Amino acid sequence: MTRKILVTSALPYANGPLHIGHLVEYLQTDIWVRFQKLCGNECLYFCADDAHGTPIMISARNQGTTPEELIERMHAEHQKDFDDFLVRFDNYHSTHSQENRHFAELIFTRLNEAGSITKRKIEQAYCGKCDMSLPDRYIRGVCPHCGAEDQYGDSCEVCGATYQPIDLVNAGCAVCGQKPVVRDSEHYFFKLADYEKQLKELFGQGYIPPSAENKLDEWFSAGLKDWDISRDGPYFGFRIPGEDNKFFYVWLDAPIGYMASAQNYCDKHGLDFDAIWNSGDYEVYHFIGKDIMYFHALFWPAMLMGAQFRPANKLFVHGFLTVNGEKMSKSRGTFIKARTYLNHFQAEYLRYYYACKLTGGIDDLDLSTGDFLAKANSDLVGKFANLASRSGQMLIKKLDGQLGRLDDKGKALLNELTSAREQIVEHYESLNYAAAVRVINSLADSANRFVENNAPWTTIKTDPEGTRAMLTAVLNAVRVLSIYLSPVLPEFAGKVHTLLNIRQQRIDDVDKHLQEHKIGKFVRLFERIEQEQIDAMIDESKEVQSDAAAEQSEEPTGPKEAIAPEITIDDFAKVDLRIAKIVEAKPVEGADKLLSLTLDLGGLKKHVLAGIAKAYEPEKLLGRSVVCVANLKPRKMKFGVSEGMILASGPGGSDIHLLSVDSGAKTGQRVK
Ligand code: MSP
Ligand code: ZN
Repeated sequence: MTRKILVTSALPYANGPLHIGHLVEYLQTDIWVRFQKLCGNECLYFCADDAHGTPIMISARNQGTTPEELIERMHAEHQKDFDDFLVRFDNYHSTHSQENRHFAELIFTRLNEAGSITKRKIEQAYCGKCDMSLPDRYIRGVCPHCGAEDQYGDSCEVCGATYQPIDLVNAGCAVCGQKPVVRDSEHYFFKLADYEKQLKELFGQGYIPPSAENKLDEWFSAGLKDWDISRDGPYFGFRIPGEDNKFFYVWLDAPIGYMASAQNYCDKHGLDFDAIWNSGDYEVYHFIGKDIMYFHALFWPAMLMGAQFRPANKLFVHGFLTVNGEKMSKSRGTFIKARTYLNHFQAEYLRYYYACKLTGGIDDLDLSTGDFLAKANSDLVGKFANLASRSGQMLIKKLDGQLGRLDDKGKALLNELTSAREQIVEHYESLNYAAAVRVINSLADSANRFVENNAPWTTIKTDPEGTRAMLTAVLNAVRVLSIYLSPVLPEFAGKVHTLLNIRQQRIDDVDKHLQEHKIGKFVRLFERIEQEQIDAMIDESKEVQSDAAAEQSEEPTGPKEAIAPEITIDDFAKVDLRIAKIVEAKPVEGADKLLSLTLDLGGLKKHVLAGIAKAYEPEKLLGRSVVCVANLKPRKMKFGVSEGMILASGPGGSDIHLLSVDSGAKTGQRVK
């Protein structure tokens, strides 16, 4: 029976490029979707960019552009990356779309009517300088419990304490450093606890994978709390109906983006959205990473049920990627962007590698670069490509490219391969690609052994027809293997079709032996890969930048190297730049990035804290002339008051360069 299935992957944030961590998810999903299609099932795969929220607003500001322009550019970039990784969505949309606004408003209105929305005042941190409300992650300061510096507004990474942002000592805006003020603001909340019974029923039906079930008790015993679904403007998102300056929180309309993408697809293809989403004709599955389980396990199905939409049948949850046993890191060069990978390797090496690693569980998976190299060369080149190219080339060169009939030995080999079909299907279905690939590898080993044992390169001279029968078996084995591998290696499967001169295959075709058939032309399949290519990819990924800022795309990132918005000459004239001489320089205890400088501005002395300790030895700075912003309002920082700023370039860390001043410039002179 043909199944009808609707599949989604989590929507990537539109404020950054895709990296190989994301690809765990998109490749896992794509392989499953291709597998379903291979089995003859109807399987629709929807995704979109997650385009709203504070980080996108800030990225756009930093790049001197609008959020709309930024998300449009990222949309095109993401789509190109997906395309080149052979991820084939049936539709790739955006949460900043009219369909999504429609569903967000509809769901909100229905939840409101159902009495599931409540309003109450909360205290909200606000940065006057950036003119925005600050999410917890955009406030940094000293942990009130253990005193660790530079911690986020919601929790301390050192002692693990959780707290309110206003509890932080010396709190500062993560973007500009200014001390936030606390403002009262009325927010909308979704009453999640109203849905406890319905959620438990849903979980009873297998909504959550067994590997994630132990989280459930934790959640329920902690109690289901109201969820804050509104944000004050300025905010890049959808304005809440009936409000002037309140917007839906990005996580409210993000999962609704699944529906928006489906609706957009239906409109393009003349289909009925309800028939797909609500009728029950389609099985619905969300693929997600373990970090976003809470949203997908609780808020999302509760919202849907409260608004009379059908929740998905099941979540498929995967773990996180580490590289060489460690978290991806920019300084180690293991924070590898999708595009950087593609600059060095074709997509299928990674597709294959992840398939070898994915078991369907929630455990993290490791990309070991050594193992990546070994698997590519031993399996893809050594087993699959070799089998196809040796036998194909011999048949073309010596036997006119003509397949004969199978003999008993050949039938026995193929029988071994085709009888593994059910097992492989089950492994794919349960997302245990690692097991599927293991079985396929052992079948390839049998086929390669068959070639070794029968030695066609010797029999070709003495028994051409026997050799033809033998090669017919081997090339049929290649065909069966390529069908089994096609969800993982669609391009390889396509090349095998060209080699064998056959059309695209379905899983049922494994039994249909190809005999007395003229094969096609020889195609190169996989090339060996070398350590130098891996080194080059790592090198290209190395960035002199702190890892903290780079880990997660939803976290604040520093200004990008784009030109800031225009200012007038009058604006510029407000900045009083002076030639200053460094007369004292010393380290700051407890702050490994700061130097405490005393500057002489021609009689006037100023004390400045400068983040240049990683780049300069204090002694070497004595007597040096620098350019100083002389009229900067003194700022209270964690380690004291800073009365100015000195000009330097570079991203930070040891990569900072003070602007130099030609000899002859006089201390205290204005810079114009
Ligand atoms: N925008 C949200 C999802 C909204 S879904 C309604 C988001 N975006 S994300 O870009 O940060 O992540 C997208 C998906 O990639 C998530 O499922 C996430 O778990 C996954 N991964 C991101 N980094 C990952 C690794 N390093 N390893 C494995 N998966 C990772 O979350
Ligand atoms: Zn600020």
